[in-house]
Amino acid sequence: MHKTEIVLSGIRATGKLHFGNFLGAVQNFVKFQQPGNTCLYFIADLHTLTTLQSPEELRGNLIEIVKDYIAAGLDPEKSVIYAQSSVPEISELCLYLSMLQPLGDLERIPTFKDLIRKNPDNVNLGIVTYPVLMAADILGPKATFVPVGEDQVPNIELARSLATRFNNRFGDTFVIPNMMQHMIRVPGLDGSKMGKSEADNAIDINSPREVILERYLKKGITDPERKRASDPGDPYDRCQSVYSVHELVTPGEVETRTIANACRTAQIGCSECKHRLVDGIAKILEPFQAARAELSEKDDYIKEILHEGGKKARVMIRETTSDVRDKMGIVIY
Ligand code: ADP
Ligand code: TRP
Repeated sequence: MHKTEIVLSGIRATGKLHFGNFLGAVQNFVKFQQPGNTCLYFIADLHTLTTLQSPEELRGNLIEIVKDYIAAGLDPEKSVIYAQSSVPEISELCLYLSMLQPLGDLERIPTFKDLIRKNPDNVNLGIVTYPVLMAADILGPKATFVPVGEDQVPNIELARSLATRFNNRFGDTFVIPNMMQHMIRVPGLDGSKMGKSEADNAIDINSPREVILERYLKKGITDPERKRASDPGDPYDRCQSVYSVHELVTPGEVETRTIANACRTAQIGCSECKHRLVDGIAKILEPFQAARAELSEKDDYIKEILHEGGKKARVMIRETTSDVRDKMGIVIY
């Protein structure tokens, strides 16, 4: 990370935030909110439309996620917090960028394949252009740094190459954004990536401790070859949903090694291991949940934040869009 960065990231309003979003994205958003950095954090409501849901749900999710942002520590005095759709210049920029984006790359991108696998009955054009809209999100305010979870790497790479292609053809315009060095992928209860839209595999960050524990005890898949607590387990390769989360939430290598050894030598069973994991998760989530409860009835306050944030973001993005328009030969008469 350079000394001062323009940090930007977004989350779709597809549902409630889960622990993967929290560890992989939101906690980093908060970490980079430091003096010297300009931070832009938004809700990607237009991207959400690619997997169309009810308008009420979309509007509701958007507000709830901003409450999560604030409760997690984002400060509207320090970060620009906005809805993607409040900045119409992003959509305009997406259109310009799409003229330089080969279709083949979009069809090959793993996130495209993943979206059509999950929505086989709705392979719309928005899904194809999804990464180009994302590139417009990033390149519009000239973000230098984009904190995301590991699954988003191909999309950021596409934004980087699109920026380079534009700069080569029209002269220096865009900044090439960087990613974090260590990105994470939090597994869900079934071992695959924890996701909002995935088959019931997520831990809702607003769930009380008992509910999280019950979900891990009932649904958390561990080492399938460990039939009895007296069998030695394999935390690294075979345990699917628990041990790798320990590594993410339990501070200190010694501590995690102790857990791994206890598993390998059958000193603890999976149930005990899950109890310890949920203790760790609850410790992280408790301060967040306390702050979040304070915001539950404050929709007007959240809308005000979005209104102010939208205005600020628009100023930053408008300038780039106008420059791009100009360079491509488009004149608004
Ligand atoms: P979801 O995949 O749950 O629908 P989004 O696609 O809106 O969520 O992701 C928002 C942010 O959270 C992105 O930066 C994404 O990389 C990150 N993220 C999502 N799921 C995980 C996960 N299981 N582990 C780590 N980061 C994740
Ligand atoms: N595609 C991202 C996701 O699913 C959300 C997103 C949209 C985003 N635009 C972005 C993330 C720009 C970072 C930067 O998680």
